[in-house]
Amino acid sequence: GGSDAINTEIITLTRFLTEEQTKHKEATGDFTLLCHSLQFAFKSIAYYIRRASLINLSGLAGSANSTGDDQKKLDVIGNDIFISAMRSSGCVRILVSEEEEDPIIFNEYPNARYAVACDPIDGSSNLDAGVSVGTIFGIYKLAEGAQGTKEDLLRPGTDMVAAGFTMYGASSELVLTMKDGPVNGFTMDAALGEFILTHPNMQMPKKRHIYSVNEGNSLWWADPIKEWCNSMKVPEKEGGKPYSARYIGSMVADAYRTLLYGGIFAYPADKKSPKGKLRILYECAPMSMVFEQAGGQAVNSKMDRMIEVVPESIHDKSGIFMGSYDEVQKVIDIHNKHK
Ligand code: AHG
Ligand code: MN
Ligand code: MN
Ligand code: MN
Repeated sequence: GGSDAINTEIITLTRFLTEEQTKHKEATGDFTLLCHSLQFAFKSIAYYIRRASLINLSGLAGSANSTGDDQKKLDVIGNDIFISAMRSSGCVRILVSEEEEDPIIFNEYPNARYAVACDPIDGSSNLDAGVSVGTIFGIYKLAEGAQGTKEDLLRPGTDMVAAGFTMYGASSELVLTMKDGPVNGFTMDAALGEFILTHPNMQMPKKRHIYSVNEGNSLWWADPIKEWCNSMKVPEKEGGKPYSARYIGSMVADAYRTLLYGGIFAYPADKKSPKGKLRILYECAPMSMVFEQAGGQAVNSKMDRMIEVVPESIHDKSGIFMGSYDEVQKVIDIHNKHK
């Protein structure tokens, strides 16, 4: 019959979260509630981005954030949406956002057990050009007796209970992983208003000839990075092909492509930015968890496992190389050779 082709057993994010909760007998439901609030924040941010040109939301807000970025109007709105969603979940004690100098402590929920780090809009310099942007998040469970201070977030990414990101592109995509679990990809069905599980258990290709880096910074790179980047342009074997360059300038979009197609994304530390550009808590750590759990690797500029790095401050930065296992290994091998 005609209904054969229609899948009535769609796994929505809501259903997925309910099923996850059922698997964990000890679960109180708080994490599920938190994810429902995250989901609302994503939908809401995506909605305003889509309408930005129509409702006077393009351009700068006229302020800068604590890492020195000029804030766009949508950076401010995305941040407000995120804060409100996290507060109203009732499960978040402390929130660190790229757009807030200090952590936000939700004193109205003293028993809330989660801490969240977020980049409300990643790639915001691309917003007015209609290029894909997204939201990055990492979720930590507070230690027993934690008071809800910023020290509760100065922990390695290995302490996260879940992490992921969205990409608001031709469709809105959500990539979500829980500690030691698979990486799952959901696509927003605008008509249903639901994220649908479209990419269960994402595993990235082990290698792929694609590299993604802002080569405009190469003047300030150290020798091993120059050597690695030059090696991308020379075929390994005679008759072979060099790598393709792909750099969007929105980490979420470069990361999403890299997860699906394979390759490597890098934002190295350099002489001009000795700590790199990307921020550990809400950019590097969540991406590292996703990439490792999808079978890839993520390291910092010292070639240490990125997810083990402990930030010194909430907006602390790091160089990063992340991607297919073999592609990141090439960078590590070149660095070892230079030691
Ligand atoms: P954000 O928009 O959240 O401040 O992050 C911008 C980041 C990241 O999205 C991107 O990979 C990188 O900055 C691009 O930096 P360059 O313009 O220096 O290449
Ligand atoms: Mn920014
Ligand atoms: Mn960002
Ligand atoms: Mn941002």
